Amino acid sequence: MPANKVWVRVCSLADLPEDRAVNVHINNQRLVIARCGDQAHIVQGYCTHMLYALKDSAVKDCMITCKLHGSQFDLQDGSVQSWVTPMTEEIRTRKALRTYPTEVRDGVIYVAWNAESAEKVRVRL
Ligand code: FES
Repeated sequence: MPANKVWVRVCSLADLPEDRAVNVHINNQRLVIARCGDQAHIVQGYCTHMLYALKDSAVKDCMITCKLHGSQFDLQDGSVQSWVTPMTEEIRTRKALRTYPTEVRDGVIYVAWNAESAEKVRVRL
């Protein structure tokens, strides 16, 4: 991990619903966080199709489904799994959600964030 990344506590895994994404604000960036079994993933807060908010989107089998037109993304790498037009390899990668590295330790979710120290990062669910 680069020297400017620090691990920041986000919340307990048990704080998250199992079937939908919720907003998480990290230093005023609005992202979404969702469970994937015993792991959790953080991705950008808006769909790459038409920028619809992903908050409250359904989550199943590590896949998040946008509520507006039903595009689906793999939470683990952000890649597009289903799109509003026929899928191509270019769409799969070019329209992928931005992801943020996360870890779960003893039931607590941490995100790797660019900052001098974890104390300088504000996290709010
Ligand atoms: S805005 Fe998400 S699929 Fe269209």
